[in-house]
Amino acid sequence: MIRKCLFPAAGYGTRFLPATKAMPKEMLPIVNKPLIQYGVEEAFESGCTQIAIITGRNKRSIEDHFDISYELEREIQGTDKEHYLEGIRKIMHSCSFSYTRQNEMKGLGHAILTGETLIGDEPFGVILADDLCLNEKGRGVLAQMCNLYAKYHCAIVAIEEVDPSQVDKYGIIQGEEIEQGIFKVHSMIEKPSQEEAPSNLAIIGRYILIPEIFDILRTTPAGKKGEIQITDALQTLALQGKVIAYQFQGKRYDCGSVEGFIEATNVFYQRIKNAK
Ligand code: UTP
Repeated sequence: MIRKCLFPAAGYGTRFLPATKAMPKEMLPIVNKPLIQYGVEEAFESGCTQIAIITGRNKRSIEDHFDISYELEREIQGTDKEHYLEGIRKIMHSCSFSYTRQNEMKGLGHAILTGETLIGDEPFGVILADDLCLNEKGRGVLAQMCNLYAKYHCAIVAIEEVDPSQVDKYGIIQGEEIEQGIFKVHSMIEKPSQEEAPSNLAIIGRYILIPEIFDILRTTPAGKKGEIQITDALQTLALQGKVIAYQFQGKRYDCGSVEGFIEATNVFYQRIKNAK
């Protein structure tokens, strides 16, 4: 049973400057909801009720978002606008939130290691909220991965096929398909060139990690871009046969890029309009 989900949200978000100058990119809204709330809803749906968030500078807006705003509550109570707050109220009442700060942006692996104090000695989910995932046909991506964890009890990365010209933007896996869409990972490489890439199966922002990862991260040297990469740490686990990759059901929108963000905005706006 996975109870905790970690949200690294300390990156600079340079692709969205100046919007992210004083605000984390995880607070950018897709229509009327910040990216991080979509992520927390996905975690909650998978059974995680302990939400751990890694923040950097500009952390306040995330903490405030998941906290009660007494003035606003009083203002809106009994009005026809109250339904706007239903989703966030449900999350706030059902989940606990804890925060810690990554004070040097040394990469995603370092952000995850910073979360050790919040996670402790148990398996946990990781959601990168700028990868917004939607599964119209069933359960969310993290819930699908939690089901898989119950069977395999090892680290799991979510993957999707990308165009070969895009492999240098992702961690890429090489593995053997053991069930349809499920691969035993033999090796993985962060942001390879097209020539180096062992496949076009790219890791997206959903992971289930096991606590051994923290000890590995402690000794993982800086890799691509001078950052401590989670892919490099997972490679150590893969060599021990403890990583599987999962081709998830649903669609991912790369909201860390302007194009993906606009695409998601259009899709989610249509969904809201169609629901009315
Ligand atoms: P990205 O690689 O998208 O980097 O991080 P970024 O800094 O957020 O964005 P750009 O590239 O400058 O536009 C992937 C995820 O890892 C988190 C980010 O917040 C994002 O959710 N992250 C990254 C950290 O928490 N700490 C880091 O040091 C790096």
